[in-house]
Amino acid sequence: MVGLLTDTFGRVATDLRVSLTDRCNLRCTYCMPEEGLQWLAKPDLLTDEEIVRLVRIAITELGITEVRFTGGEPLLRPGLIGIVEQCAALEPRPRISLTTNGIGLRRTATALAGAGMDRVNVSLDTLRPHVFKRLTRRDRHHDVLSGLQAAREAGLTPVKVNAVLMAGLNDDEAPDLLAWAIENGYEMRFIEQMPLDAQHGWRREGLITADDILLSLRSRFFLTSEEKELRGSAPAERWLVNGGPHRVGVIASVTRPFCRACDRTRLTADGQIRTCLFATEETDLRGALRRGAPDEEIARIWRVATWGKKAGAGLDAPDFEQPDRPMSAIGG
Ligand SMILES: C[S@@+](CC[C@H](N)C(=O)[O-])C[C@H]1O[C@@H](n2cnc3c(N)ncnc32)[C@H](O)[C@@H]1O
Repeated sequence: MVGLLTDTFGRVATDLRVSLTDRCNLRCTYCMPEEGLQWLAKPDLLTDEEIVRLVRIAITELGITEVRFTGGEPLLRPGLIGIVEQCAALEPRPRISLTTNGIGLRRTATALAGAGMDRVNVSLDTLRPHVFKRLTRRDRHHDVLSGLQAAREAGLTPVKVNAVLMAGLNDDEAPDLLAWAIENGYEMRFIEQMPLDAQHGWRREGLITADDILLSLRSRFFLTSEEKELRGSAPAERWLVNGGPHRVGVIASVTRPFCRACDRTRLTADGQIRTCLFATEETDLRGALRRGAPDEEIARIWRVATWGKKAGAGLDAPDFEQPDRPMSAIGG
């Protein structure tokens, strides 16, 4: 019998984010230092079978309906296609998506779609190759663009493009990115930069906020807010561009957090449950898996962890502390 992932505030988690690896082939300045990080050791990572088992439990015992694979860079996980295939065969079938930097999608998009992937979010912060190189410390702009195109052609739609804007680097690009996305059939989403970088270099001063982004977009486009009810638990506030049908999303995780409607639960690549990106506590599932716990026990541990989910991320609290794990190790 399904027993939902409910918390004390009455929220129900139905959207599972699964990190498949903490490794990445880019070094975005707002995420990781140039030299990378101390990666998780292979024996600590969940195996493909363990991941599929946990996703099955989440779907059949806990009411999860959406599964998003992320990382690190999920396309670096050798078993990705097989994992997707097995998750797509589960009953009831979850909606399956991927958050990726797009490098490698040119090669894998068709196989991913064939395995049962429904859609992708691709991260791209700039249309300028030299800015991309500065921002990611890698010269791969072209690979991302061709990966995006391959995703669209493979039917992994709607293809959403996520961009983080930073002062003095790419904060003048919002209207160009939106125009480009519309022209190419992608849905553009801008995300406020969050204090989740490994270097702990985030400062609220100088943050490019949702208001800044909207002001910049309105210099070129006429934006109308979609009905509030349509937003539901979706983190993005969506706006119709020039009366529609195209839309743009703005994710104001810092200035207008959406914690009250949060429907997410997270599984790290080493098998820890996190109820929030900013949680300072984790609950271990890997240990239970490896000592042979039955499905019902694992489901119970997950429910207990969810019950204790905090009201909000607490970014505005005077005692806010950035979590020890950076975004790349939690799964963004
Ligand atoms: C951590 S990445 C993981 C998945 C994949 N490698 C990718 O690039 O999409 C997921 C998303 O988090 C975003 N991200 C990383 N650090 C961030 C931060 N400090 N604030 C806001 N977004 C961040 C990235 O831009 C990306 O869109």
